[in-house]
Amino acid sequence: QSRQFFVGGNFKMNGSVKSVSDLIKGMNEAKLDGKTEVVVAPPALYLLQASKEVQPPIQISAQNCHTAAYGAFTGEIAPAQLVDAQIPWVIIGHSERRQMFGDTVEFVADKTKAAVEAGLKVILCIGETLEERKGDKTDEVNQRQLQSVVDVLDEKAWSDIVIAYEPVWAIGTGLTATPQQAQEVHASLRKWMAGKVSQEVADKIRIIYGGSVNGKNCRELAKEADIDGFLVGGASIKPEFIDICKAAE
Ligand code: G3H
Repeated sequence: QSRQFFVGGNFKMNGSVKSVSDLIKGMNEAKLDGKTEVVVAPPALYLLQASKEVQPPIQISAQNCHTAAYGAFTGEIAPAQLVDAQIPWVIIGHSERRQMFGDTVEFVADKTKAAVEAGLKVILCIGETLEERKGDKTDEVNQRQLQSVVDVLDEKAWSDIVIAYEPVWAIGTGLTATPQQAQEVHASLRKWMAGKVSQEVADKIRIIYGGSVNGKNCRELAKEADIDGFLVGGASIKPEFIDICKAAE
């Protein structure tokens, strides 16, 4: 498979100066060989520290950014500030932000565009709720969330994007999508991207899965043809994260 496997660790609002340092130290010591692209996202407060402590091939990501380049947006971080601080990645559109912090499909699209234009790479999260899945709306919801981004990006911008399919019902619940359920959605998204953007982008873009991924279920999921990696929450701050980073080996 030509797509490099990708594992992201989203610490969410967890950690301390010491625990972030310990986690990064543990990852450095794991001597990851770089076959899988590994990116960890601590809370904003710890980004600079993490960026100083981390060793290649591990990279650092922010968990969010704003659309504007600078200005009166109390509490926000501009894409250009992340670039200035040498933070290469940002997570955009996480369901927690969509559900709790008013990130609409349009705002997510604008953030993604601003981030890519500033020179960041983006982990773009999409996913349906349990109600939507039960209502047979999975594809429709994911396509709507992606369409808003397709509408604002040039074809070449997609080379800086990883799509994270995270069914909301699987996030932090211990209810992982089965490899077949995830594969089905990933394949359908790839096909949709071929029609809406291009076959080349569809073939190249990494579509990663998130939702209760752990050291036990990661290998089965990694075998599926269209699962190109993971976005890990809870297990990213546990020692098993190293095993998940090696799931494709
Ligand atoms: O960003 C990560 C996802 O929300 C998955 O979280 O692994 O705790 O279910 P989880």
